[in-house]
Amino acid sequence: MQKRLFLHAIALASLTATGAMAQDNTFKIGLILPMTGQQATTGRQIEAAARLYMAQNGDTVAGKKIQLIVKDDTSLPDATRRLAQELVVNDKVNVLAGFGITPSALATAPIATQSKTPMVVMAAATSSITQASPYIVRTSFTLPQASVALADWAPKNGIKKVVTLVSDYGPGIDAEKFFKERLTFNGGQVTESLRVPLRGPDFAPFLQKVRDAKPDALFVFVPSGAGAAVMKQFAERGLDKAGIKLIGTGDVTDDDQLNDMGDVAVGVVTSHHYSAAHPSAMNKKFVEAFGKANKGLRPNFMAVGGYDGMRVIYEALKTSKGQGGGDALLAAMKGQIFESPRGKMFIDAQTRDVVQDIYLRKVERKDGQLYNVEFDVIKDVKDPGKTK
Ligand code: PHB
Repeated sequence: MQKRLFLHAIALASLTATGAMAQDNTFKIGLILPMTGQQATTGRQIEAAARLYMAQNGDTVAGKKIQLIVKDDTSLPDATRRLAQELVVNDKVNVLAGFGITPSALATAPIATQSKTPMVVMAAATSSITQASPYIVRTSFTLPQASVALADWAPKNGIKKVVTLVSDYGPGIDAEKFFKERLTFNGGQVTESLRVPLRGPDFAPFLQKVRDAKPDALFVFVPSGAGAAVMKQFAERGLDKAGIKLIGTGDVTDDDQLNDMGDVAVGVVTSHHYSAAHPSAMNKKFVEAFGKANKGLRPNFMAVGGYDGMRVIYEALKTSKGQGGGDALLAAMKGQIFESPRGKMFIDAQTRDVVQDIYLRKVERKDGQLYNVEFDVIKDVKDPGKTK
């Protein structure tokens, strides 16, 4: 018994020693993403972008070896929380990152707070997320940010009566609310607000309702990955032929799926923070390198959130010189300002949320491919959800 206890103590001590050594020389990023299921494209895009960033910028920063630990939460928030806990307690990660949907980010927030681990939200986009923990920093966007721009554009372009159709959870409710408020302020009208379930939605009955209501336009928010299904049903129900325009945040004309959407997508106007067609030198390089590393895959707005999230982590590690733990890292994430493939972006030190340009874009066919072509820009947009 004595001997067993003694051996056990030695084993524990050596485990701790290796743990401490690994802690000293490695910097661990726990990347939790939906790699399977309905949001799998988000996981695929963000992981690819994170790996591209590492390939381009090396895997040693401030003398530490960067280790990326990728976990699949299948976009179930209970799984996200459990994985985050394991990553913090067992793997002793320095940063938590990823978070494909809002419920996953919200489920993890208390763990970030309790363990003082910075949590970089690369995808989820409900306004309130950054308020769920002082350790959250966001590199994606917010739905109010994207929706308000479109509600300013629409009434100036003959769109006065609108029906909204959103996924029935955080980001959809944000999009519905902020689009409606701003459109009404601008003299337009939302005549009906429809909500579809997040999981396994059937858009057909809702679209039939819209066809009967005959608004000038249908405003849509669905999360990345669901846009193609909406587009297909929109055409099948003949809404385009009935003269109803489709508008929305750029999630619906997601670059991951856009090219397969066909003619029904041509002419669709959306507002968003990233288009693969953004005409900057940096973005052209990004799109090319991303495609080269991923069998021609086109990066979407999720990829850019992942790429910029890695940038924020790398720079924070450089600034804090690998010393000082979570609080020092977090402090070095706040206030970062840099050029992203999307354009200029800024992590507001006060809100820890992203301030960025929002573009109006129209789907056009260029060299046989469909793209979201930017035609107007609203500079330096803060999340309108934060001022309420
Ligand atoms: C979210 O759940 O916050 C979310 C997911 C996908 C999107 C936008 C928002 O495209």
